[in-house]
This record gives sequence, C-alpha cells and structure tokens, in this order.
Amino acid sequence: MSRFGKVAVLMGGRSAEREVSLRSGGAVVAALRRQRVDAHPIDTGNEYLGQLARGGFSCAFIALHGRGGEDGTIQGALELLGLPYTGSGVLASALGMDKVRSKQLWRGVGLPTPAFRVMRDEGDTEAALDELGLPLMIKPVREGSSLGATRVAEKDQLAAAFREAAALDKEVLAERWIQGKELTVSILDGEALPAIGLETPRGFYDYAAKYQANDTRYLLPSGLPAAREQELQALSLAAFEALGASGWGRVDLMLDQAGAPWLLEINTVPGLTDHSLVPMAAKAAGIDFDALVLRILETTGL
Ligand SMILES: Nc1ncnc2c1ncn2[C@@H]1O[C@H](COP(=O)(O)OP(=O)(O)O)[C@@H](O)[C@H]1O
Ligand SMILES: [Mg+2]
Repeated sequence: MSRFGKVAVLMGGRSAEREVSLRSGGAVVAALRRQRVDAHPIDTGNEYLGQLARGGFSCAFIALHGRGGEDGTIQGALELLGLPYTGSGVLASALGMDKVRSKQLWRGVGLPTPAFRVMRDEGDTEAALDELGLPLMIKPVREGSSLGATRVAEKDQLAAAFREAAALDKEVLAERWIQGKELTVSILDGEALPAIGLETPRGFYDYAAKYQANDTRYLLPSGLPAAREQELQALSLAAFEALGASGWGRVDLMLDQAGAPWLLEINTVPGLTDHSLVPMAAKAAGIDFDALVLRILETTGL
C-alpha cells in the first residue's frame, strides 16, 4: 500500500469527545497496518503541527471528533501545510459542527429540519418556550455525543437544561421535540449506506445510550419498506451535500408519527470504532471494517 505513503492518523485532541476519538484513531491505525499502510498515530492534544509539517507525511486520516478536529480548524491547517486529508473540507466541516447554521442552510434549500430558536442567555428561554412549546430538545450548538443535551418536558426544567448546554457552548439550540423513530444514514463516497434504526428505553439516544448502555437497539435492516428507505437515503445525501460535505460521514434524522422526516444534524467525522454506526452500516453493505477504513483513506484523493 505504498501509494498512500506515510499516513498521519490524527486522534485525541482536546474536545469533549477526546476519549471516543482515541478509540476511533486506535481502530483506524490497526486497520491500516493490517493492510500494510504506513500509519502513524498523532495525538493532537499535544503539540502536533511541527510533527505534521516535518514528519514526511503524505496525507492525514482525520479521526478527530468535535471542536478542534471535526470543525474545519485542522482541515485549514492541513490545507496550509499542503497535506491531503480524509473527508470534508474546511467549510463543510465548520458548517457540520454548527447545528444552527446547518439548519438555516437546510431551510434555505427546502430540506426539513425541526423548528428552533437560538438562545444566548437564560432570558431567551421564555421566548423559545412560547414559540416552540413542550417538550423541547435543548443542546449546545457545536457539540457531539449528546453532551449537554436534555429533553425538557416541564417548564421548570428549562433553566437547568439551558445552563447545562451553555456550559459547553456560548450558543444553545432549543428545538421542537420530534416524537417518533430515530434513524442514522451513513454516507461513503457519494453514496448512502443502509439506514440504521436506533431504539433506546432512555428518553433519547443520549451519551449513555451511545457508549455505555447495553439496552440500545440497532435496527439493521431498518425495517422500513425499501422505497421509504431509499427516499430517506436520498434526503440524507441531499442534506450532506447541501452543506458541501464530501468523502464520508453520517446524517442523523427523525421520523415523526405521521412518517415525516426531520433532519437533526450531520457528522463529518463520525465514530470509527468497530462498534460505531458507520462501520455497522458499511458491514451491512458488504464492506468490512478494514475495507471501509481504506475507502475513507482514498477520500484524500491519493
Ligand atoms: N428535536 C429532537 N427531537 C427528538 N429527539 C432529538 C431531537 N434532537 C436530538 N434528539 C436526540 O438527541 C440525540 C443527539 O442529538 P443530535 O442532534 O444528533 O446531536 P449530537 O449527536 O451531535 O450530540 C439524537 O440522536 C436524538 O436521539
Ligand atoms: Mg447525533
């Protein structure tokens, strides 16, 4: 696999999702090495730009989740260093990290996303409540892994939910709660992979349901009629491309009780552990973990 040269696998970093990223990066390095790619882990939690500039690397595999890695900043540094990298470019990475700007853009092009309001201080919660009603989903604008996200069913829970999200970001998103089914659609190289249905007995797919609970159910196949699934795959691909995203990623969406789809967010660097959702969807499409990691490496253009 010399065509890829010396590959820097960027992982860790300083975001709230550091631990998940270290697991993704570790799995990527192992998969690349099994396929004789010269892969080198770099933890971007330490000084790393010098290493990247002078390490003789031919490209970078970005396995960083959250701010400082998934949000366009590393992508910008790599552009300046002239190193090709996996996945989306600067603009789409930054947009994908920002749930509010993603939603504004989707609205602009006529794609469905739940009604919302941006809150900057606790005084803004009243207007959000008046406009959107209960229950409400409260989340930081630029975070992941459901960190700081709360379902608010009662008015008196709203201030605490706001503060929890505001501790992670200066902007907080209040979103209309969608009661129904949750789905996630993985994207690889311009194509949507099979949708995965997500079910949890916890009120929503929160941090514990994602990484700790053993009662989270992954429906794959999703159980939707084939034509319906194709529609949702097309919608997900359109949502991904509307933000300018490319290479690979994942789109999270809900189906309400009337069957209408609602886009929640995209992930431009979703989890890549062998338990993660993109690898699960890839496997259902006949692409094993090692092949997936190689396909993602190819998104560098090498
Ligand atoms: N408007 C909503 N209605 C119902 N559930 C939601 C809504 N927004 C988010 N959720 C739930 O919260 C989870 C995390 O939200 P999401 O927007 O995907 O943020 P992230 O995964 O970046 O933390 C979703 O997977 C879903 O279970
Ligand atoms: Mg999500």
